[in-house]
Amino acid sequence: MNPKIVQITSQETLPIRHEVMWPTKPLDYVKLPKDDEGLHYGLFVNNELISVISLFINDGEAQFRKFATLKKHQGKGYGSTLLNEIMRIASEESLNRIWCNARQNKSDFYTKFGMIITDETYVKGGIDFVVMERILP
Ligand SMILES: CC(C)(COP(=O)(O)OP(=O)(O)OC[C@H]1O[C@@H](n2cnc3c(N)ncnc32)[C@H](O)[C@@H]1OP(=O)(O)O)[C@@H](O)C(=O)NCCC(=O)NCCS
Repeated sequence: MNPKIVQITSQETLPIRHEVMWPTKPLDYVKLPKDDEGLHYGLFVNNELISVISLFINDGEAQFRKFATLKKHQGKGYGSTLLNEIMRIASEESLNRIWCNARQNKSDFYTKFGMIITDETYVKGGIDFVVMERILP
């Protein structure tokens, strides 16, 4: 069945965020203080939520955060489908820039979407991050 992307609530993103990204931390750890201000999208296959991403728009720029696909469904193209949709939404909103804090080991993945590594890096929870961005036309 074809994947379907729909807007969801931040609450609906939490189980996948937790299971995929920070399973050893309490559920609250994957909540974002500004979740209420975000746009949250989910990719469903056969009515099952497989992949989630959250978009935060400010001052003509969009940051995507908490992008995660259920482990058993990773590597099947679902994340790419969801990220392409986010890029399309950002373009439609006439935004100048889309950016994310990427896990360093995922930076090659994001370059496939026209994102470029900046020189901003940091470490959180023992994981190396780099800011990546794409300037929108
Ligand atoms: C990052 C993440 C969301 C990507 O989701 P995904 O659904 O696995 O994404 P895709 O399947 O589209 O792409 C994953 C890889 O599979 C490859 N791929 C995509 N479709 C494919 C297919 N049909 N067959 C084989 N490989 C495929 C992609 O090229 C990509 O390769 P790469 O990682 O070497 O660049 C997912 O890996 C994840 O949840 N990771 C853990 C959390 C995380 O790191 N989040 C991002 C924080 S920055």
